[in-house]
Amino acid sequence: EKSIIKDKLNRPLRDLRISVIDRCNFRCQYCMPAETFGPDFAFLPKSELLSYEEIERLAKIFVSLGVEKIRLTGGEPLLRKDLPILVKKLSEIEGLTDIGLTSNGVLLPQHAKSLKDAGLKRVNVSLDSLNDELFGQINGRNVRTKPVLDGIEAARKAGLGVKINMVVKKGLNDTEILPMAEFCKNEGLQLRYIEYMDVGSTNGWRMDDVVTKKEIYNLLKEKYDLEPVDPDYYGEVAKRYHYKDTNVDVGFITSVSESFCSSCTRSRLSANGQLFTCLFNGNGHDIRDFMRNGVSDEDIINRVTEIWNGRDDRYSDERTAETHRNRKKIEMSYIGG
Ligand code: GTP
Ligand code: 5AD
Ligand code: SF4
Ligand code: SF4
Repeated sequence: EKSIIKDKLNRPLRDLRISVIDRCNFRCQYCMPAETFGPDFAFLPKSELLSYEEIERLAKIFVSLGVEKIRLTGGEPLLRKDLPILVKKLSEIEGLTDIGLTSNGVLLPQHAKSLKDAGLKRVNVSLDSLNDELFGQINGRNVRTKPVLDGIEAARKAGLGVKINMVVKKGLNDTEILPMAEFCKNEGLQLRYIEYMDVGSTNGWRMDDVVTKKEIYNLLKEKYDLEPVDPDYYGEVAKRYHYKDTNVDVGFITSVSESFCSSCTRSRLSANGQLFTCLFNGNGHDIRDFMRNGVSDEDIINRVTEIWNGRDDRYSDERTAETHRNRKKIEMSYIGG
């Protein structure tokens, strides 16, 4: 029995992004810069993380409130032990139509098959460059491209849907825009270019660092015949185009140049069980301790409903230099993108 809840801007709750861990084996400059996330950084101890039983319970509650899609994120979600066990629990929830994972890919060779067997449908793999040296620099751990490419291959072999995410930052990896397009097109992989966003407060974001969809599109258009494609689902984040005479699409995630808040149906649970109503709204609502105090499902339903009913976030619509400076924000690795 579903009860559809709406926020202040009449947006239903359709998606839940669950961060299962705040740690990552990469130190991408734009997300977890090594200067901030050093060897002494205090990550969450296990007791602070939501357990799989707690996540399962919350997932069921969110599905009863209208959620149809769940995406597991991190940090790097594959660093959480026995992730397939969680996927299996989630895949048994009636009313969920999609379970995805967002990962840097390096642990996929080990885990792709068991994740697929557990009911995972898709994985979005981040890859910002095909150049080993540049990629090693961007991921902050000098990891070459091969482990990621092997991860992508393993995911496809296992039968998972795969999309590639590329964050584009001016002067850093804009030279990789065309090589990545060519590679993904040839491999039959959907590539999504992501406009670099001002998430968190440690990446030193500046508007000048953003390469917009329009700039990237114009580059692609010189080389390829592109036709716009209708969204796959209501509120799809990426705007997609089709390479004519192929079966491959390419997409753009235009959080900066063409915001998509009016159709934003996403909620986010951090690894320690705080509920966030926007990627850029740092005021999380505690769910974990509330739940650990022994409340009923109905109490949790009421709490989540109240939070969602009060939601009026539309940060990307409103983004200005002013809001960028003054907002209290959460780190990307904490909230999972
Ligand atoms: P699909 O279900 O495959 O469409 O996944 P997705 O694109 O929603 O998820 P993914 O984790 O691959 O995210 C891709 C990029 O979109 C990341 O940079 C996210 O931070 C960004 N993104 C996802 N949802 C939102 C959102 O609600 N607002 C903003 N501003 N960015 C988002
Ligand atoms: N801007 C845009 N995308 C980002 N990601 C991480 N940090 C940023 C940022 N500052 C991306 C990752 C991953 C997804 C979850 O979010 O590359 O693909
Ligand atoms: Fe890790 Fe992804 Fe953040 Fe890179 S972008 S540091 S891979 S969580
Ligand atoms: Fe949704 Fe906030 Fe992103 Fe807008 S900025 S699309 S409200 S998460």
